[in-house]
Amino acid sequence: MRELLLSTEQLLISAAAQHPFFFSPRRSGSCAQVSLSVCSSLEMEEKGVDSDGNPFTTRSQLWAKEAGEDIATSTCFDPTKKQEWYSKGVSYWEGVEASVNGVLGGYGHVNDRDVAASDGFILEILPEATRLSKHLVALDCGAGVGRVTKNLLLRHFHEVDLVEPVSHFLEAAKDSLMTVSPSSSVFGRAINFYCKPLQEFIPKANRYDMIWVQWCIGHLTDRDLVEFFKRAKVGLRPYGFFVVKENTTKHGFLVDKDDNSITRSDAYYRDLFEQAGLFLLKTKMQKGFPKELFPVRMYALTTEPVKAGPIAHRTREFRSCGQGLLLCMSHTTNFEYEKETVCWWLFARVTLSDKGSFYLFTVGTSFAMVLLRRIYCYE
Ligand SMILES: C[S@@+](CC[C@H](N)C(=O)[O-])C[C@H]1O[C@@H](n2cnc3c(N)ncnc32)[C@H](O)[C@@H]1O
Repeated sequence: MRELLLSTEQLLISAAAQHPFFFSPRRSGSCAQVSLSVCSSLEMEEKGVDSDGNPFTTRSQLWAKEAGEDIATSTCFDPTKKQEWYSKGVSYWEGVEASVNGVLGGYGHVNDRDVAASDGFILEILPEATRLSKHLVALDCGAGVGRVTKNLLLRHFHEVDLVEPVSHFLEAAKDSLMTVSPSSSVFGRAINFYCKPLQEFIPKANRYDMIWVQWCIGHLTDRDLVEFFKRAKVGLRPYGFFVVKENTTKHGFLVDKDDNSITRSDAYYRDLFEQAGLFLLKTKMQKGFPKELFPVRMYALTTEPVKAGPIAHRTREFRSCGQGLLLCMSHTTNFEYEKETVCWWLFARVTLSDKGSFYLFTVGTSFAMVLLRRIYCYE
């Protein structure tokens, strides 16, 4: 997934230069400004461009040309083309060094931020899965050198399986995962290492509490992506879920001709997840990545509709702020819109010399929390 390396601006500018009806570039001095020409949002979602500047007016056109697939009938009319699409992707990665920096396209330094955000995301969702499962098992898809397994999954799951089509990555993953120090905070073990691409992988039934898919699903055609999720559902235990963490475009799609991968928009992904019969439990943007990278989005997806509805009260807590002040907080999450509202009540104890004491209270929401944080160093 070389798109990690390519900035949106680079691609948009090269696209704009060759595809004027989609983007209209304006240059002033040495600065290139790219602005979208007037185009309905529906059209913008359907259109795309490749890294050579070739435009596509629809997704059907893209997949017919690149992989010989007819997305209307969900059939492949040219298996050779499809074979070529996938072998170019794998060949690209076969030429990349088996290291964290290699799989992150030279952006190895984003690893810590990536892992920290994924960690928070898992913690918000995992309690759902733990309801039935005591011994937790995860699958790391397109696992590369085992970066996600080692830094993230083994801290939350007792067992982790890896699936990855590039053998020298998988060998490096085995080496690094077999030498995890027993004194580390890691408590899980990597169990199975499958050398397969996702479009051919069939998971073992009823084995996984979570299937993690990061920075690899862009290699799959639309049809194979949908089929993969449909097949992989049988691998999930009750209350299990998928997490997809991927680069996204603002609108439409961008095809990287060097490694044969596609960067899709959020709307595009949601459409494909729906086609696979999945339901969105939670979605969140990765924060703190360098500006030149594509925006990265995390999706937690379930095979059943989310029973609690899009809005759920997640936490309530009380904190004593000293000097007779008590802070009561309630976090309300609207999963659909990624909004977390914090509602707070601040109780202040007022003591009257001979008549005992009583509490005064104020109520507020997120905005006032910012102020409050400063005053009481609330973390
Ligand atoms: C950007 S790396 C990400 C690796 C890993 N997920 C991580 O975040 O560290 C992309 C990975 O996708 C893998 N890949 C390429 N084609 C694939 C396919 N058809 N199915 C599954 N994985 C694929 C590559 O071999 C590579 O390991």
